[in-house]
Amino acid sequence: MSGVDDWARDIKFETPSSLARLVKQVLVNPFANYAPAGLIRWILKATGSELAAANWADPGGWRSMVISYDGQCHQWSDKVLVGSGTIPMALRNRRLLAGRVLARVIDECPSEPVEVLCIGAGPGRIIIDAMLQAEKRARATLVDLNSDAHHHAHRLARSCGLGASIRFITADARHLDRYLDGRVDVVKMIGICEYLQDEQIVSIAKAAGVLMPAGAPFLLNSLSKRHGTDRFFRRVFGLHMIHRSVDELCRLMTAAGFGDFASLSEPLGVYDIILARKQG
Ligand SMILES: C[S@@+](CC[C@H](N)C(=O)[O-])C[C@H]1O[C@@H](n2cnc3c(N)ncnc32)[C@H](O)[C@@H]1O
Repeated sequence: MSGVDDWARDIKFETPSSLARLVKQVLVNPFANYAPAGLIRWILKATGSELAAANWADPGGWRSMVISYDGQCHQWSDKVLVGSGTIPMALRNRRLLAGRVLARVIDECPSEPVEVLCIGAGPGRIIIDAMLQAEKRARATLVDLNSDAHHHAHRLARSCGLGASIRFITADARHLDRYLDGRVDVVKMIGICEYLQDEQIVSIAKAAGVLMPAGAPFLLNSLSKRHGTDRFFRRVFGLHMIHRSVDELCRLMTAAGFGDFASLSEPLGVYDIILARKQG
């Protein structure tokens, strides 16, 4: 697919300095991964870490995304975790990249308003970024298990003048076929594949694909272990993410009736945004 590589060229991504990378490799990551989990949890609790509290309440939930995206923390432990942690930094890069790709595919759609389905939409930040960037008018349906995520997304949409263009469905994405109908021009499924089994990804993509015209775009993301802190997230936050490469996700999407794949990486190499097209 020509041109996709150029879409992100002017984005100002975050990258750590060489010194920060070295300190992480030699000191921070070994401590985070191998110090007793109880001790780290105690430090995070004693210092009032909001990121840790959000993950303990809802591992990988929408609130931890808001904290990571905002990057403005009061507690010193959050300043370290959110400000210079590889995953939060990569999440902010992923937000920028996914928002840009989504805006571009919205503008490519032949119809207007463009109907966008956001699966596991969380705080709604990425679709709102995209709707603000796109030239074409879009209407979004945000699906999430968590109604608090929808309240947050609704407030955000209203503050950006997009309140009337967004609707919310509080439901399990694994049962999309039970409550969704009408045409879908674009699907965004960012930040959720890492919590789903292979067969669940295939069945969600198949259910969405039924509503999509041939050639319609579907965005999802890979997750690599290059962040170097999987052991920390499992032991301390109780976050069990499934790491999948671009090729592994493309194989799943092929089984669901998609093809013509393209992908773009954020500079930390943790996330790729994959663009798949519904096959005719
Ligand atoms: C890590 S957040 C990502 C949010 C957003 N897509 C983003 O990237 O900013 C994952 C979101 O998926 C939602 N989620 C997880 N499993 C789900 C399911 N089976 N059905 C619907 N939503 C789900 C969670 O409630 C959460 O808000």
